[in-house]
Amino acid sequence: MRLEWTPQLAVGVELIDEQHRELFRRMNALRVAMTSGRAKEEIPRLLDFLTDYVVAHFRAEERIMSRTGYPSYIAHRDLHAAFSTEFFELREEIDVRGYAPSLVIRLNQKLSDWLVEHIMKVDKNLGGFLQSNGVDVG
Ligand SMILES: [Fe+2]
Repeated sequence: MRLEWTPQLAVGVELIDEQHRELFRRMNALRVAMTSGRAKEEIPRLLDFLTDYVVAHFRAEERIMSRTGYPSYIAHRDLHAAFSTEFFELREEIDVRGYAPSLVIRLNQKLSDWLVEHIMKVDKNLGGFLQSNGVDVG
């Protein structure tokens, strides 16, 4: 199912929202790649991109939180770390066992489910803090 970024998912900070949209775009691209004729080339490329981008995105949020004295920084960072561990375990399983569709689907689903819930419950709090403190992180 296509993953749609909607304004309900906006945290109100363009830098973060754009990274979330990019993650959504690439997850959709991965899903499409699985049924395309170029799956063998596309899937590893997209998995590499997503892995790097998830790390970079978490770091970007964490930099913002530490720079702005966000009170829930540590708890939020720990959630990123816990998810990263699970994500990398699955990624490693894919590297070891090969690009089995069931594993790739599981990884994509795991990332999209986690991300949507995390944005709604956790990133939005950060967005609210930044907005109410007038912090410009662009
Ligand atoms: Fe986050």
